[in-house]
Amino acid sequence: MTSGLEGVVAAETVLSHVDGENGRLIIRGRELDDIAGKISFEEVCALLWEGLAEPDLPEKDLREVLGTARVAVWPLAQKVFTLCRETPALSLIEGLRLGLSALSDQDKLPHHLLVTAMVPVMTAGLIRIRKGQEPVAPDEALSHAADFLAMMTARPPKRLQAHALDTYLSAVCDHGLNASTFTARVIASTQAGMISSVIGGLCALKGPLHGGAPGPVLDMLDEIGDEKGIRPWLERQLDQGERLMGFGHRIYKVRDPRADVLKGAVRLLSGDDNNRIALAEKVEQVALEVLAERKPGRRLETNVEFYTALLLEALSIPREAFTPVFAIGRTAGWVAHVLEQEKVGRIIRPSSVYIGPEPLAA
Ligand code: ACO
Repeated sequence: MTSGLEGVVAAETVLSHVDGENGRLIIRGRELDDIAGKISFEEVCALLWEGLAEPDLPEKDLREVLGTARVAVWPLAQKVFTLCRETPALSLIEGLRLGLSALSDQDKLPHHLLVTAMVPVMTAGLIRIRKGQEPVAPDEALSHAADFLAMMTARPPKRLQAHALDTYLSAVCDHGLNASTFTARVIASTQAGMISSVIGGLCALKGPLHGGAPGPVLDMLDEIGDEKGIRPWLERQLDQGERLMGFGHRIYKVRDPRADVLKGAVRLLSGDDNNRIALAEKVEQVALEVLAERKPGRRLETNVEFYTALLLEALSIPREAFTPVFAIGRTAGWVAHVLEQEKVGRIIRPSSVYIGPEPLAA
């Protein structure tokens, strides 16, 4: 038995397939490249939820009902904002957890819409509260991505900015049976409901081993400073036994396909003449060389976190909000997995091997 359950099959799913050997991510029969940035995040939700959610809505209607749902959760979000202001020790993701926990199983709105709406509304409001600003109400006429940026900045985003965030949300919408998705499915299997299952997913995502490394990627770029410093900094890190953030993956042994999608989105957003992106691309190139020299045979490639960091930074999203913003996209996948698991109708209940002492004989 492995402590990380590698290779253990715990679910059958029609939702996504991570092909780590070939660097492919398939979402409901479509390559990631064909959806992220090509169709809207609402269309991706419609694709993921098709045949699972009630009501089963096409993209156009989904955009409308998601807008309505963001407006519907706003009064409750405002109450949670008050509590968060009075509890400054709460981190941003803890505030988001509190916001989801305020939702009731008795609510009449479909619960998958409620949770999908609550995540951006809470995250945007909490970012503003952190800066001493007032949260901004949602605008149901905007897309999910555009409304998040509008709520965060109190002004309508530029088209390219909304497109970049939309691409990001789609790129991270689902990823096989990762830790948070598995957590959500275990909770769903007990019939605890959509809201509790998604809160469980968020709690698993909160852990640094899952929520990822986009913040530290930016710390690395800050410390490297300029092109001259790249190789010495990277080699020093490895000499000290540290890992290079944004590289390596448990499943992908070739390039993470999400990294390429996000690299394209960052370039589109920031243009070619951008010092930060130019430095990052050089760091990526040298890091891959250094990793190949120092860890031959390990097949360490760029992962999703590297360009996530640059994209979210270019959108002026604070580092503390990176994991909550990831959750805006991943909620689409959690919801789909919860709905799929609920249809299975059987509790997930694995076994353990007892290795403790036997009771003393009388
Ligand atoms: N930098 C340097 N060396 C690395 C890196 C890295 N980023 N990643 C793996 N290695 C090395 C390890 O030191 C180890 O070498 P060794 O056998 O000579 O000691 C070998 O590669 C295998 O490492 P494992 O820990 O077994 O690989 P695993 O598959 O468990 O780890 C992980 C995957 C956690 C992502 C790892 O690559 C890592 O720590 N990367 C840096 C952090 C990061 O970018 N995290 C975000 C991942 S993306 C996501 O989760 C959404």
